Amino acid sequence: MISVNVLEVKGLNKVYPGKVKTQALTDIHLSVESGEFVGIMGPSGSGKTTFLNMVSTIDQPTSGEVNINGSNPYKLNKKELAHFRRRQLGFVFQDFNLLETLTVAENIVLPLTLDNRKLKEMDSLLLKVAEQLNITDILNKRTYEISGGQRQRTALARAIITSPAMILADEPTGSLDSNSSRIVMESLANINRTQGTTLLLVTHDPQAASYCNRIIFIKDGKLAAEIHRGDNRQAFFQKIIDTLSFWGGNSHELSSIRV
Ligand SMILES: Nc1ncnc2c1ncn2[C@@H]1O[C@H](COP(=O)(O)OP(=O)(O)OP(=O)(O)O)[C@@H](O)[C@H]1O
Ligand SMILES: [Mg+2]
Repeated sequence: MISVNVLEVKGLNKVYPGKVKTQALTDIHLSVESGEFVGIMGPSGSGKTTFLNMVSTIDQPTSGEVNINGSNPYKLNKKELAHFRRRQLGFVFQDFNLLETLTVAENIVLPLTLDNRKLKEMDSLLLKVAEQLNITDILNKRTYEISGGQRQRTALARAIITSPAMILADEPTGSLDSNSSRIVMESLANINRTQGTTLLLVTHDPQAASYCNRIIFIKDGKLAAEIHRGDNRQAFFQKIIDTLSFWGGNSHELSSIRV
């Protein structure tokens, strides 16, 4: 059997049409192996979210190819695509995307409900992921009754309950204080390590990025650089800051950590 990469992106271009056309991505090539934890960094407007949206099939590439686990999601029909996304992909966003009218538990099992899974199976999966993310004691609360960090761990539980091949996270710590950020990043790293789930993380935060194994830098819609983590997270953190200042993160994004 040929081993396939979880993600294979070839010659990806994205042009947003309109009065003024925006070439958001230019000729992106990227292969991600199963179990990798890949960070995506770059200045505001460089194309990070656009790239995630192409991979997550939220939006269509203008040209180029995206393969996930060997299949091209853009060749599926609408119903197949919805099923594919629920089974293969988990999503985490900066603003949590939880439903306020539901409890934490109901939010977490939502993807299973949509798949018509058995109640007993849902319950046991719920308890498992809740324990893993340390949110067992808040399962019956509404999402407005819990903290930001707890919300993001709820969103993370919802993302992993289907055992997706890949989790796509866009600034998951962007709305959190540093302590909650650390807990969320440790949870992500833990999921990656224990379940072997492949992770793609967009972040501005070098501290969050230092949990990744590899970071790619996008500038003006093009891949600009790539760095790999060795054994030492602290050394990797320094390398991230050096790379950002070379390739230009926004200076205000760095000012807080330069002092
Ligand atoms: N729906 C859209 N229509 C038109 N242009 C868009 C659209 N979405 C993004 N763009 C443009 O594409 C470019 C890349 O945007 P994108 O949102 O991918 O950047 P980003 O790297 O995620 O930035 P940030 O760090 O601020 O989130 C920008 O120039 C942006 O203005
Ligand atoms: Mg973005």
